[in-house]
Amino acid sequence: MTESGGTPMEAEFDTVARWTEEVVGRLGPEHAIPAGCRGSASPAGLDWLLRTCGVGTGTRLVDVGGGVGGPAGYAVRHAGAAPVVLDPMFGACRAASRLFGVPALAADGERLPIAAGAADAVWCLGVVCTVRDKTGLLREIRRVLPAGGPLGLLVVVGDEERPPGAPEGNSFPTRRVLREALRESGFRVRAETDVDDLPEPPPDWTARTEEFEHALREAHGEDPRFAEAEDQSQRLAALARDGHVAVRLLHAVAC
Ligand SMILES: C[S@@+](CC[C@H](N)C(=O)[O-])C[C@H]1O[C@@H](n2cnc3c(N)ncnc32)[C@H](O)[C@@H]1O
Repeated sequence: MTESGGTPMEAEFDTVARWTEEVVGRLGPEHAIPAGCRGSASPAGLDWLLRTCGVGTGTRLVDVGGGVGGPAGYAVRHAGAAPVVLDPMFGACRAASRLFGVPALAADGERLPIAAGAADAVWCLGVVCTVRDKTGLLREIRRVLPAGGPLGLLVVVGDEERPPGAPEGNSFPTRRVLREALRESGFRVRAETDVDDLPEPPPDWTARTEEFEHALREAHGEDPRFAEAEDQSQRLAALARDGHVAVRLLHAVAC
């Protein structure tokens, strides 16, 4: 618990999700995807995931820990996918459904409300480092995919599990531990890349992200939960700057 009465993860993933819905409502729908993808993949990263996972028209894409739905909204707009967003935070689910019109359900990644083998593809972006039982999460994802089904992951990998200054509630697998967890859960990695090796976002994406961040600060900058969420992201940014963590994209298939 913190000064605001919740955990820093609740501030970051629930309160900020509610604020995102409200602020995008004022700025306009063209801000929804960039605002909804803050802290996750850039357009180049999302294109990489769409391509490697073979996401196309009507693909039943389950986005585990899908947050406010930016990546799911991107998959609808750029590939015609049919995503469902699952996230434990009610504020995130409500934002995903209102901002992008996608079905969104409150659920833990370790217990997905999806029948075995019913997903065409699964994404899980920026989630692995926020759960303790990484193999449990990956096994549950494996359950909902048929053999050969594609998984797209965005994972913050670390040189140790919790480098000094790590954000609350985060633990970073090393590359070796992540590969081992995927193998044990029934996945084979087909491709991976560092997000820093992909092209930068286009200027209009960056401009909309900045406008959104400015409006968010104007509206809620005085709220202690804003400072808690900021502290979480600044801690992560500092670890990345000092080379303790790196953001990896992986494409794996269910064996
Ligand atoms: C860094 S955000 C990424 C959100 C979204 N995937 C994106 O890329 O924009 C991490 C998300 O994981 C969710 N999360 C935390 N614990 C989870 C769990 N046990 N199962 C599924 N999702 C979880 C959080 O609520 C949050 O929305």
